[in-house]
Amino acid sequence: MLIFLDTADINSIKKGIEYYPIAGVTTNPTIIARENKDYVELLKDIGGVIGKDKMLHIQVLGTTAENIVKEANFIKDSIGGNIYIKIPVIKEGIKAIKILKKKGFNITATAIFTPQQALVAALAGADFVAPYVNRLDNISGDGVNVIREIKKLFDIYKLNTRILAASFKNVEQVHKSSLEGAHSVTLSLEVLENLLYHPLTDSSIKTFIEDWETTYNQTEFIK
Ligand code: E4P
Repeated sequence: MLIFLDTADINSIKKGIEYYPIAGVTTNPTIIARENKDYVELLKDIGGVIGKDKMLHIQVLGTTAENIVKEANFIKDSIGGNIYIKIPVIKEGIKAIKILKKKGFNITATAIFTPQQALVAALAGADFVAPYVNRLDNISGDGVNVIREIKKLFDIYKLNTRILAASFKNVEQVHKSSLEGAHSVTLSLEVLENLLYHPLTDSSIKTFIEDWETTYNQTEFIK
């Protein structure tokens, strides 16, 4: 299981990397536009913060295979690092995935809402597929069930493509996706931090320290 940060906010990325086991950063055009900065400089900065080993997923905007390929080359040349090109699963996107795979690019197929979209993208050569759990749940869909069925298809056909479950708004969605065998999840720092939160954990720690202090008149282990 890999955990990614789904943000282009440099402070969140720095904090995430410092505290948590992070495999990389995922972005999309909305996430980047939210920062309102020069996007090439911003992506280079993100690459500098995470280093060359961690993955950086960057999405194209093109809607023709030709433009997607051009944008992928631009991203590779101008940003560099351990880049994964995120490509939406439209017809032209699938064509672009096939072309770019042959050229040695790492690919994440994105904007996935059905198991069959994921299967076609995987057969075309995608390294990851990114189904959007919360966006499905928001319109009375079942995001976790889509994860379950993608996993089943990938297992049946022995495909090496990994699920990068995305668009999470709460811990329960992440937990259920993990139980279904999603190979990776991408989370905001807020959702990631909520994975650790429990009021009984906090109250337990408070009691441990109070009990220690009562007996030893100090709040730490080392005198
Ligand atoms: C990641 O690939 C997606 O772009 C992202 O998780 C979408 O998240 P949202 O539904 O919160 O916008």
